[in-house]
Amino acid sequence: MNQEKAPLVEGLLKHVNTEYSTFHVPGHQGGRNIDHLLRELLKDPFKIDLTELPNLDNLYEPRGIIYESQRLAAEIFGARETFFMVNGTTGGLLTMINTVCLPGDKIIIPRQSHQGVFGAIITSGAVPVYVSSPGKRVQEQKINNISLKGIEEALDNNPDAKALLLNNPTYFGFCSDLCGIRELTAKKGVFLLVDEAHGGHLSFHDSFPRGAAQAGADMWVQSTHKTLGSLTQSSMLHLGTEEIDRARLVNMARIFQTTSPSYILLASLDAARRKLALEGGGLMESLYRLAEKAREKVSDLGFSLLPLKKGELSLDITKMALFTHGFEESGRDIASMLQEKCRVQVELSAEDHILIYFTLGHREKDLEYLIESLGRIREKLNPKKIWPEEGGEEDYLFPLPPALLSPREAVNQPGERVPMAEAEGRISAETVSLFPPGIPLLVPGELITRELLDRLSKGERQAFPTQIKVIKKE
Ligand SMILES: Cc1ncc(COP(=O)(O)O)c(C=O)c1O
Repeated sequence: MNQEKAPLVEGLLKHVNTEYSTFHVPGHQGGRNIDHLLRELLKDPFKIDLTELPNLDNLYEPRGIIYESQRLAAEIFGARETFFMVNGTTGGLLTMINTVCLPGDKIIIPRQSHQGVFGAIITSGAVPVYVSSPGKRVQEQKINNISLKGIEEALDNNPDAKALLLNNPTYFGFCSDLCGIRELTAKKGVFLLVDEAHGGHLSFHDSFPRGAAQAGADMWVQSTHKTLGSLTQSSMLHLGTEEIDRARLVNMARIFQTTSPSYILLASLDAARRKLALEGGGLMESLYRLAEKAREKVSDLGFSLLPLKKGELSLDITKMALFTHGFEESGRDIASMLQEKCRVQVELSAEDHILIYFTLGHREKDLEYLIESLGRIREKLNPKKIWPEEGGEEDYLFPLPPALLSPREAVNQPGERVPMAEAEGRISAETVSLFPPGIPLLVPGELITRELLDRLSKGERQAFPTQIKVIKKE
């Protein structure tokens, strides 16, 4: 092999030499909205790529500059205490769930939780109880967030549940009525934990839906890098109430994160907080107005959008899903056209939609370019002539497969890979998901049924693995 090559370095250099108009995470959009102190610091990243030197404090026993920085963050994020995370919200989810759940504890979670939640369930040994969003169609499950009624039922049916974890907002932007949900969990003495990976900005403008801080959640974790301008992989875990065992939380943060936290990432969290504290109100107002304007303009182009309110669900308009049902071309085709012909990159695309993210780094001229590009692509699209019949079996979710083992038991047993077609009656040792946004059809420990295999063989309109890891027979 040619050891002179540096494929990763060369690939990145090639990428940065092509100018793109970006509408995806991270929120700083190429460093556009970062605090000037961070810009100064990053002029020479090697100088600040340091270890825990005497004056530089320690992430897991902070007494100096990290302590002070976390306290400032807690104040503006409305937390009792804030913990900086250097392994993203994934690390935060592992820390948060392992703090409250012991093996065998029940935790209520949406079926379409992020894989980090399943990682935390496996490591903690907690037993998941699933709640689904309103609606029986796959499409509704994908888009909606959890309803108060769904939570009420789950809490009534599981009086021994230890915690409830919600995702707010979903990838599509829908937020649940967190304040109402908080009242329910408080009555039942169940911890409310929130995966706010995509919702760091919620508490900074009254027009955004209410977030975990306003609802008074026990703990919540935010990918500061996705929405608030810190560097990728840096997140914040916020502690809301004194009911949580703080010492255990610190221990878990230490277990699930590196012993060599990057000062570059930590400094970027401090700088993102400073920028928000000093300019957050104005920046969020501009972001909100930009997203509002974008909605008006893209509707005129013939793409459909999600409503701002759907019953008790409220939309975070910084996430703009454009549904492409009206055209012969798929969301993926449209995203490729945007990338190739206009150098516009979106957050994600799927069969029937593209998702555009607006962040604090976007300006009016970005929106103008986006609308102009969408307009150009729109002219090339072919309006749909024949609409697919709705209501086919594959449009509906089927009942959850029976869980014969907990996810932790399943992944810890000897497994083997078998062809998917021969897996009926076996117990899964892995997750099979519907992407995007990752609704698991099967999680470890669940029985592989005929119904599931039939559904997979019909393709669910996407490619599934032909093999699956199952638990070995005795
Ligand atoms: C809902 C949700 N939770 C958690 C995460 C993990 O966040 P991070 O990338 O900061 O680890 C993601 C990442 O996309 C996510 O979408």
